[in-house]
Amino acid sequence: MTADSTQSAPPPQSDTLRRVICVARAPNNALLAEMRSAGWEVVVAKTAAGAEAATKKSGVAAGLIDFDGFTPRDFPTLKACLSQTAIGWVAIAAEGQTASKAVRELIRNFCFDYVTLPLPPEWISHALGHARGMAALDYVDTAADTLLTDDSTMVGTCEAMQQLYSTIRKFANTNASVFISGQSGTGKELTALAIHRCSPRRKAPFVAINCGAIPHHLLQSELFGYERGAFTGADGRRIGRIESANGGTLFLDEIGDMPFEAQAGLLRFLQEGKIERLGGNESIPVDIRIISATHVDLEAAILAGRFRTDLFHRLCVLRINEPPLSARGKDIEILAHYVLQKYKTDSTHKIHGFTPSAIDAMCSYHWPGNVRELINRVRHALVMAEGRLLTPRDLDLESQPAGERMTLDRIREQAERSAIETALLSHDHRPGETATALGISRATLYRRMVAYGIYVAEDTALDDTDEELNGDVSN
Ligand SMILES: Nc1ncnc2c1ncn2[C@@H]1O[C@H](COP(=O)(O)OP(=O)(O)OP(=O)(O)O)[C@@H](O)[C@H]1O
Ligand SMILES: [Mg+2]
Repeated sequence: MTADSTQSAPPPQSDTLRRVICVARAPNNALLAEMRSAGWEVVVAKTAAGAEAATKKSGVAAGLIDFDGFTPRDFPTLKACLSQTAIGWVAIAAEGQTASKAVRELIRNFCFDYVTLPLPPEWISHALGHARGMAALDYVDTAADTLLTDDSTMVGTCEAMQQLYSTIRKFANTNASVFISGQSGTGKELTALAIHRCSPRRKAPFVAINCGAIPHHLLQSELFGYERGAFTGADGRRIGRIESANGGTLFLDEIGDMPFEAQAGLLRFLQEGKIERLGGNESIPVDIRIISATHVDLEAAILAGRFRTDLFHRLCVLRINEPPLSARGKDIEILAHYVLQKYKTDSTHKIHGFTPSAIDAMCSYHWPGNVRELINRVRHALVMAEGRLLTPRDLDLESQPAGERMTLDRIREQAERSAIETALLSHDHRPGETATALGISRATLYRRMVAYGIYVAEDTALDDTDEELNGDVSN
């Protein structure tokens, strides 16, 4: 088992919580001294490449970037540094510098704040502390909810997934054939790979073959291989999939679609543990573990005479039923964050997460395509999104799923919440402008945001002196 390489560097542990990187062509020494005396451990990078190297190391919680002296050639590298999810960035922009569109975009898309000097140094320390806190909030630790192997990561923490992990570990210790059933896109192949990677066979090959996609006459040669001259066009020996998996695991995917005529040959191999290449007469012993999967109802296929009962019993010594995504509750949100982390670089700007209504929409959707569909929707949203949070519209989940009971109150609530989120996004979370656009008071906007669990920025909140708190509550 190893750590998952798709995760960005995790947020720093407590002993490095105050490590900050200062990216500047000509660092301001007084500022550095002040930051150090405020308790920050400061790492300085004077070039874009130096910044890239430093941000890749874990332990940096916050970053201060001064664009002065950097040229557009540096921007792609600086952008890669600024997109590190675990680091909260603050920009220093000298007067006139924000006239550059590229600088404006980098600040808007990746920094929590920007300051123009001269400014009391303790303000910068305060901004960095804030940025560090925001970055830690953004980071979702999926590592705690995963089954990790060298090349596969299974994410999920619900009861059904916990059971699946435990079953995988137990099945991995045996050599018995495993049959995996489940709807399309639920993770059958991933489960097969995880069993192999957790088993003593992990160093030997994992060979997969899609039994439904290959016509009968080709399937025989794919599985068993052939000798030179076995048929027209066989101008050399070819090793089949069964033989190439020797010592490891053979994954027979879509076994339910295997042509009936091909089933007898496979059964013979399972009974004898030996193969004969087509056109050959040598009997070759092969040591493999068989895992098979299908999304069709194999018992129904047996009743319909399309699948051999004796083969089914050979394949299905141990059985796993993959849970559909709609039954995994909170895992939908965990998986969505995992996919966001994994593919975040597909987006042109830094995406911080999902709006609460996007989470709601995902949790109430029925997911006919299961995890694969969720991955596709989040990837599509990352490319399409214009704001910092992915919305139901970005995920193409605006319309209500069929079958959910919607009361008028719920419809009203969802419409109101979605309108507030959209207005906040289009007004850069500026409360005054957002409230005006919605035709409500700031106090009402604030109350509604609290009620709907929408993130409330400090400057949105009102203090007791706000005249509207004591008056208008009607909007
Ligand atoms: N629990 C999970 N955590 C992370 N990724 C997952 C999980 N389950 C499935 N996936 C991912 O979802 C995608 C679909 O998984 P997989 O191919 O294993 O499904 P399947 O059940 O074999 O689908 P099909 O029936 O269409 O062949 C893959 O990209 C896989 O990595
Ligand atoms: Mg599959």
